[in-house]
Formats: sequence, C-alpha cells, structure tokens
Amino acid sequence: MLRIPEITLFSIVCTMCLIVVLLRDNPTSDIAPDDDVTYVEMSNMSRKHPVTLQKQSKTFQQLSQPCERNESAASISGFSKLPEHIRDFLFYRHCRHFPMLLDVPDKCGGPQGSADVFFLLVIKSTPTNFDRREVLRKTWAKERRHNGVWVRRVFISGTVGTHHEKRRMNRLLKLENEEHRDILQWDFRDTFFNLTLKQILFLEWMEKRCPNVRFLMNGDDDVFANTDNMVEYLQSLPGNDGSKHLYVGHLIHSLGPIRYQGSKYYVPKEIHEVNYYPPYCGGGGFLISGFTARIMYNMSHSITIMPIDDVYLGMCVEKAGLKPESHSGVRTFGMSIPSRKVDALSPCFYREILLVHRFLPYQIFVMWNDIHKPNLRCGTSVLNYDSKP
Ligand SMILES: *[C@@H]1O[C@H](CO)[C@@H](O)[C@H](O)[C@H]1NC(C)=O
Ligand SMILES: *[C@@H]1O[C@H](CO)[C@@H](O)[C@H](O)[C@H]1NC(C)=O
Ligand SMILES: *[C@@H]1O[C@H](CO)[C@@H](O)[C@H](O)[C@H]1NC(C)=O
Ligand SMILES: *[C@@H]1O[C@H](CO)[C@@H](O)[C@H](O)[C@H]1NC(C)=O
Repeated sequence: MLRIPEITLFSIVCTMCLIVVLLRDNPTSDIAPDDDVTYVEMSNMSRKHPVTLQKQSKTFQQLSQPCERNESAASISGFSKLPEHIRDFLFYRHCRHFPMLLDVPDKCGGPQGSADVFFLLVIKSTPTNFDRREVLRKTWAKERRHNGVWVRRVFISGTVGTHHEKRRMNRLLKLENEEHRDILQWDFRDTFFNLTLKQILFLEWMEKRCPNVRFLMNGDDDVFANTDNMVEYLQSLPGNDGSKHLYVGHLIHSLGPIRYQGSKYYVPKEIHEVNYYPPYCGGGGFLISGFTARIMYNMSHSITIMPIDDVYLGMCVEKAGLKPESHSGVRTFGMSIPSRKVDALSPCFYREILLVHRFLPYQIFVMWNDIHKPNLRCGTSVLNYDSKP
C-alpha cells in the first residue's frame, strides 16, 4: 500500500520524467540530426572553418579555408562614403568558392548522360520564394518530355538570414530537395549583389555534372516562360544540338552603369570604372546553348566579378568575341497589350510568347493551364512574333 507522501513522491518523479522526455524531444526535433550542414553549424558557433557532412561517407569534409575579407579594399579612396552593400561587395568580390549545401548530382544522368537533356531550366530562386518554386514545378518548369525531348529543372540558391532563421530556411530547401530533387544550394548570402557569384557557381556545377546539356534557360522565378514554345524554337534552329553559339533574349545594349546611389542597380566607379556595359540579354530570362554556357564559364575565370549578373555574362561572351541576340518573344519588360479594353492576361497573348516578366504565382498557374486548353480560341496573331532571333 502506498502512503500519501509516497504517492506524491511517485507522481513528482513521473512528472519530472515526462518533462525530461518532452524537453529531450523538442529541441532534438527542432535541431534535426539529419539537418547535416546547419546542424554542424549550430553545434559549433565558434568554428573558423566551415564543414559539410558528406551524406554518403558520413565523414566531415574540411573545405578549404573560408574566403577571407579583403581588408585592403577599405583603402580605396572614398570607401567609407560608399553604401554598406557596396562596401560589403568590395570586401568579398574575390570569393568564388563556397561549400555546396544541396546538390542533385544525377540531375542530368551523369556527365555522359547529360547529352540526353535537351533543355535545362536554371531558375534563380532565393530560399524564401517557396510559393514560386511550388507553382513553377506544376507549370512551366515541370520536368517532362516535350516534342520528344527532355526538359529538366534546377533552382539555384544561396542562404538567407542568420542563426535560427538561416537554419529554418536551409531546412525548408532540404525538405523540398528530398521531395523534388531540384535544388542546388551553396553557403553564401543570397543577395542581389551576389547573383553573379550564383551564376558562376552554377556554371562550375554544370561543367562537372551536366557538361553536355544541349540548351539552357536561365532566369528568374517570377516570370512566365512558355517553355513548350522555347523547346520548339530551339528545335527549329539549324544547329539544334547545342554545339554552336546561342545567346538570345531581351537584348540590352548601349547601356552603362547607373551612377545614381538610390538605384538598386547603382554601380560606382570603384566597382566598374568604364561608363560602358557590353551588350547582354536581360537576366529575367534568356536562352543559351551548352556551348555558350561552357564559354561563359571559361571566360569568367579571367574576369573580375561585377555585381550585375546579366551584365557580367555579357562581359564573358564579349571577351570570347561572341554576341547576344534579340528575340522578340522575350518580354522581360512586360507586354504592351494593344488596347485597354482587352484582358491583359488573356491566354491568347501568352501562347505565342517565349517569356514575360513578371507574374504572381497564381497568375502563372491559371495562365499555364489556360494556354493548354484544347479549346482555346484566339483570333489571328496580335503580336509581332518572329521565330528567328
Ligand atoms: C569548434 O571549433 C573550434 C574552432 O575551430 C575547434 O577548435 C573545436 O574543435 C570545434 N569543436 C567541435 C566539437 O567541432
Ligand atoms: C583587394 O583589394 C584591393 C583594393 O581594391 C585590390 O587591389 C586587390 O587586388 C584585392 N585583392 C584581392 C585578393 O582581390
Ligand atoms: C556574398 O556572400 C558572401 C558569403 O556569404 C558574403 O560574405 C558577402 O557579404 C555577400 N556579398 C553581398 C554583396 O551580399
Ligand atoms: C577554355 O579555355 C581553355 C584555355 O584556357 C581552352 O583550352 C578550352 O578549349 C576552352 N574551352 C572552351 C569551351 O572554349
């Protein structure tokens, strides 16, 4: 028979056991043990060298020294008067190697198999844009066979936030990647001024994992891309095996750096001295051949990073003695709809274009479904669309 004090003691012990179990359970499920890279990071905040946990080998791989800040950047005259993000860019502009957090090594079926991938969609997406990735997977970026050829997709991403926020966002991408196997992520801050770095890291990945892909679309996650039309256009080219130069999109030329501090695109002389940019295709979305992507990567080794990614790729192409071309189906500055009376989001306008900037996720979902309606009836073409670049 238990006496009262014993019962009390017993229930206290039980309650404490329960509390211990709950406490153990919660933090461990929050810091998931399989959350490899970020888990390592949380467990050793004082670490100097980044480490990644190779899943297969279960060993810690020490990456080469993290890229150190270039302190002598601060000695350029007028440095302290530059906006913070510009100073930050100058401190780290020489850094080109970052640990990969998420990879999809077999995305193209290995280096050899990659020749069977006709069209790889490379979509710049920051971790927070979960809703955009979800809708693109169901719509224009669906992995599929179209017109007899394979279309594949990768999102390219860095990291956002610090501490808990960074860990949570990395966890999100990891979960997405487990389900969809379509995310390439590196451990650098995913900011507008780091987009060139993102492009170079992708090109490096491509050379290793997917060197023989035929064509690529490189673009933002807030565009509407008619990827069926893109495939058909690429198939219609004389050299449709990706072994010739191709770089088409919204052609931007005779432009130079914006020297007005208030602009998102502000690039001071300290970053880019000459008042001139080479011609380039707007980064909202453009098409390149595998050949041209390899050339871009090759040239990038000897060109100092400048923050505007589409300009930088134009610089790489120019250095190789090649040129971008315009395609009237790419409308990165939006569509000019002939009359206010017509619905600007009528599918009849979008079944003919290649790409339009910018769409909300729900608009992409509706439009993709509408342009595929078998009974879609449209009048004669309202757009000046020519299939040649
Ligand atoms: C944490 O990082 C420090 C500094 O690099 C290192 O000396 C220490 O061994 C690390 N501890 C663990 C548990 O990894
Ligand atoms: C560091 O910055 C200085 C000043 O801008 C520059 O001359 C030098 O080349 C930079 N070093 C590296 C490693 O990029
Ligand atoms: C680019 O990423 C690196 C690595 O995370 C970071 O140190 C640097 O501040 C970032 N640069 C910009 C301009 O955001
Ligand atoms: C890349 O550059 C190297 C020399 O730096 C050259 O041998 C190679 O052919 C180039 N590749 C392409 C695709 O241009």
